[in-house]
Amino acid sequence: MTIKERLTELLSRSGGEYISGEKAARELSVSRAAVWKAIRSLEGDGVEIESKKGLGYRLLSPCDLLSVPGIEKYLKCKASLELLSETDSTNTYAKERARLGAEHFHTVIAERQTCGRGRLGRSFYSPKGTGLYMTVILRPEGFTEERTRSLTTMAAVAVCEAIEAVCGKEAVIKWVNDVFADGKKVCGILTEASFSLEESRLQYAIVGIGVNILAPKDGFPPELSDIAGAVFETDTADARCRLCAEILNRFSFYLEKDDTSYADEYRKRCFVIGKRVTVHSLGSDEVKAATAIDVDDRCRLCVEYENGERELLSSGEISVRPI
Ligand code: BTN
Repeated sequence: MTIKERLTELLSRSGGEYISGEKAARELSVSRAAVWKAIRSLEGDGVEIESKKGLGYRLLSPCDLLSVPGIEKYLKCKASLELLSETDSTNTYAKERARLGAEHFHTVIAERQTCGRGRLGRSFYSPKGTGLYMTVILRPEGFTEERTRSLTTMAAVAVCEAIEAVCGKEAVIKWVNDVFADGKKVCGILTEASFSLEESRLQYAIVGIGVNILAPKDGFPPELSDIAGAVFETDTADARCRLCAEILNRFSFYLEKDDTSYADEYRKRCFVIGKRVTVHSLGSDEVKAATAIDVDDRCRLCVEYENGERELLSSGEISVRPI
């Protein structure tokens, strides 16, 4: 653990009481200058600390610092973690790590993304301090293209279960991979994969997950303010570490189970079933009105068009239409 992480633990344990620089230095077996430097660095990360002459330092609000040991504390599965203070996109970074041989379940997490990527070439708003941006590298054996698609829906279930466990909020899924809580989108998932053409075998998949933990202090940008929400309303100690670990725990559980039980969980949470939707097919401008009928064991959406014809969709976009 770094001095900063140990100091965070010390400050958190003191429950809002002051700790003098001298005491902190003694407990951490470092110099007072090192304590001071770590305090400045924590403040730079957005942690609110009050310093008072003669008394020392105290946390003004619960500290939600991301750290590898902080995540490992809650981890029940085998994963190696890599934390970056900033990157363009954890998916882009992880792709390079995967190409260079990073192992199954190596997970890249960033405090901030300067060029976070969403589906269909969109961007993903990724400011510092209020979000969890993570990408899991996967190398499952013998995965076909179709099974690789299931990684996205499996991840959506893992995210919902993690939100429910950590934040105590119901989380639901808008087919195919948007997670909603309190009627707002709180998480997006972007899966990318590399296949060997010769062997038609999955080389690696990277599953990128972005969760809005808190609404930014100045609110979401205007173009997102109607649709984006967050999983917490107030600063919560260890929120990001707990959520990150819980997502990995649940994802690894379903991946190892290697059956379709995640599809049952997906179906239960897929809030578009029974709703009137508009289907936007990928690669065409065609938009068709339909009713979402059900989700099958491969998490394909069965829709019925107005002429009574039915279709099983495995990708594409839908908008839910108010009736
Ligand atoms: C979407 O809603 O369209 C998908 C958004 C996926 C965002 C996550 S954040 C972590 C990872 N890195 C990225 O650049 N994108 C994914």
